[in-house]
Amino acid sequence: MKSKLILRLRSLRFAMKHSKNPIPGFLHNFQKHGDTYRAYLGGIQPMMVTKDPDIIRHVLQKNHRNYIKTPMIFEKLRRFLGNGLLTSEGPYWLQQRRLIQPGFHKQRLQALVEIMNQVIMESEPMALGAKGRDERVDVYPMMMRLAFDIVTRSLFSTAVSADKLDLLSNSLTTIQAFLVQQIRQPYLNPWFRMSGQLAKHVKLSKQADEVLLGLIRARRSSGESKEDLLQMLLDARYEDTGEGMTDQQLLEETNILITAGHETTANALSWIFYLLAKHPDKQELLRTELREVLGSREPTFMDVPKLSYTTQVIEESMRLYPPAWVTDRQAAADDEIKGHEVPKGTMVVLAIYALHHDAKFWDDPEAFRPERFAPTSRKQMNTNYSYLPFGGGPRLCIGNSFAMMEMQLVLAYYLRKYRIRLASQQPPEMLPLVTLRPKNGIPIIFDSLV
Ligand code: HEM
Repeated sequence: MKSKLILRLRSLRFAMKHSKNPIPGFLHNFQKHGDTYRAYLGGIQPMMVTKDPDIIRHVLQKNHRNYIKTPMIFEKLRRFLGNGLLTSEGPYWLQQRRLIQPGFHKQRLQALVEIMNQVIMESEPMALGAKGRDERVDVYPMMMRLAFDIVTRSLFSTAVSADKLDLLSNSLTTIQAFLVQQIRQPYLNPWFRMSGQLAKHVKLSKQADEVLLGLIRARRSSGESKEDLLQMLLDARYEDTGEGMTDQQLLEETNILITAGHETTANALSWIFYLLAKHPDKQELLRTELREVLGSREPTFMDVPKLSYTTQVIEESMRLYPPAWVTDRQAAADDEIKGHEVPKGTMVVLAIYALHHDAKFWDDPEAFRPERFAPTSRKQMNTNYSYLPFGGGPRLCIGNSFAMMEMQLVLAYYLRKYRIRLASQQPPEMLPLVTLRPKNGIPIIFDSLV
């Protein structure tokens, strides 16, 4: 009893001390207590924190039915995003996953290459403007906007007006920051309710919903058919009834695809730009591949699998800076994993960042070496669960091929046109919110090559 109390108090102190960046705290605890340890989130919720790949596999794959997305967190997400792929559970989740998955199949993404290339090209003047030599650009907001525009235009193709995009982008960012606060510091929740903060954010999300619903209804009533993700969602039919989704369901799924699909990719791209700017030799290898495969033409769908070094650069960057740096589940019933008792209700925290930096699996783990991801070694990482940027098991990221293709196209565009270098020798600090952000951005200088 006494030791539980001490653990709770220690955990509460941890939450307060590390509320801005818990990663060093996690790493310290792993060093002190081994690959799996217990704590209380915010001093309240019992949890087991692990970077053991066997335990991670057990939770995400082998016994996944017993591990639901932590209700304390997902109820909050659901309030803002609705009940869709990322936030639902059980039969409803399975039904939605079966319905939507075919639309994200590699071949189906072919239709999106053109949209993505177009958005990337159009975004350049806004992103870089008339920047001259030695002028710095913070790539973090640049990539946030680019990834946001790519996912919304992949959904709705015809340009969503700039002010609607602004409204959507601003409200989603504000809501997400609020969600993180609610989760990290649960003891503040009564205050959020009393002070009207909660109501303010609910109102903001309703406004964003209205914009999305307007776009969905306009497409339905136009009778037009486009080659985009919304069309795929509109055309998808449930096997048993032959019916499609309602407007409300479409709203929830589009909300989720935008949320899950932009900040993750934007963070991955920002860290990739940082690592390439820091390692000019790797940048040159990447550029050589891009020139050999593409020359000076726009990449097509057929080029994507040929860009193997580009893929390795992306994979190694997501090892060092996994956008989904942590994920979690809650035990629905008592379980035991590798001798660890997991009582019903325990939150299991899967520390992906720590796993990706574990010297047991990675030689010289802090070094940036895209060569680690040569096709022969890549297979082994899948089987031993040591590399999980997109998660694992049945709830693996549905947008992984979409994101990989998008990142390849962005790199193909910018790295053939510009040599990039760091504008500051100060290493960027990490800010792990829902995803792993660079705290003060990533200032880069783009030297034109054409
Ligand atoms: C580099 C970019 C991305 C990363 C690192 C990433 C990472 C992840 C991870 C780790 C999960 C699983 C979370 C868990 O099991 O707890 C996930 C789920 C998901 N992702 Fe991604 N993601 C990325 C891009 C995208 C994109 C572009 C989309 C959509 C366009 C997307 C849509 C989703 C959805 C809908 C889920 C929930 C799937 C389900 O539960 O069935 N993601 N993502």
